[in-house]
Amino acid sequence: MGTTLRCRPGHPGSRILSAGTYRPRAEVGNETVAALIDSSDEWIRRRSGIASRRHAGPDEDLVTMAAAAASKALAGAGVGPHDVSAVLVATMTHRGRSTTVAPLVAETLGAAGAAAMDLGAACAGFPYALATADALIRGGAAGTVVLIGAERMTDVVDPRDRGTAFLFGDGAGAVVVGPAETCGIGPVVWGADGAKSEMLRYDETGTLRMQGPEVFRWATSIVPEVARRALDEAGLTASDLAAFVPHQANLRITTAAARALGLGPHVRVATDVVTNGNTGAASIPQALAALPGVKGPALLVGFGAGLAYAAQVVDL
Ligand code: UT7
Repeated sequence: MGTTLRCRPGHPGSRILSAGTYRPRAEVGNETVAALIDSSDEWIRRRSGIASRRHAGPDEDLVTMAAAAASKALAGAGVGPHDVSAVLVATMTHRGRSTTVAPLVAETLGAAGAAAMDLGAACAGFPYALATADALIRGGAAGTVVLIGAERMTDVVDPRDRGTAFLFGDGAGAVVVGPAETCGIGPVVWGADGAKSEMLRYDETGTLRMQGPEVFRWATSIVPEVARRALDEAGLTASDLAAFVPHQANLRITTAAARALGLGPHVRVATDVVTNGNTGAASIPQALAALPGVKGPALLVGFGAGLAYAAQVVDL
């Protein structure tokens, strides 16, 4: 005779309650990065839309930045640290004193005892982790989840690499996700294409190397495709959207995707990359935090190394 285990009941849905961001103190203009790579402010703006980015100082480590962004998100949601049941950190740049960042972030927040884990899906890490948070809440494994994207891209980028030095920046963004009676996080559409992983990888020294034009071509085809599928799965069309918040990789990728989706002028399109550069897994929550007044459905799309991609519609 088998024994029937008791299951923990879950919640009907989950939703994003608030967002917070941490931007490192040092703002670095195009002239500074261009000086090392035989480039110019004009070229960088034209090919990427980027005007400046933030570079983290030695005291702005992943834990510090992640906890600062999470504290703002918790304050925005009116949630105390003792009410947090899980801390998820999406990152591709952790090289610190611990094997994972999330337990140290939980401790810093005063949420010791919460489940804490890192999640790696590179620049698609935030929507991957958001789908995980939603599943944990709906499945009953977690109540309130703090989800953070945090990167120190300057630790892995070669400042003399013409293809990457100007593109990336540092920072953290966080959201609080809580149980809800209705669906506030739509079905995720996600996947990966490991056969193409050479296009964006760490070399033997741990430095990020990117085949820029190839990644650009892949991104401009995968982003509208998964975006359309995420809209379909959520039962919406592009005209229902209030905001479009893709991974902030390059303004040209965002603009091309917005055009391919036929987004109308009422849709707020995230352009955080202009002043923040590409902050990896942090870019989507940072861009969300930069759209405080937006209410209604927002389409999130992450893409990057792996090559991994993920999209979902969230109700803000
Ligand atoms: O977050 C993860 C996902 N990452 C991405 O989505 C990034 C995708 N890729 C990109 O955003 C673009 O490929 C870059 C912005 C990185 C580069 O722009 P591009 O238009 O693809 O440049 P390119 O590498 O095709 O080079 C075009 C030209 C070349 O000159 P010629 O051969 O046409 O004379 C390059 O030598 O621009 C030259 N070039 C530069 N010039 C000034 C390449 N890099 C630079 C530079 N400054 N930094």
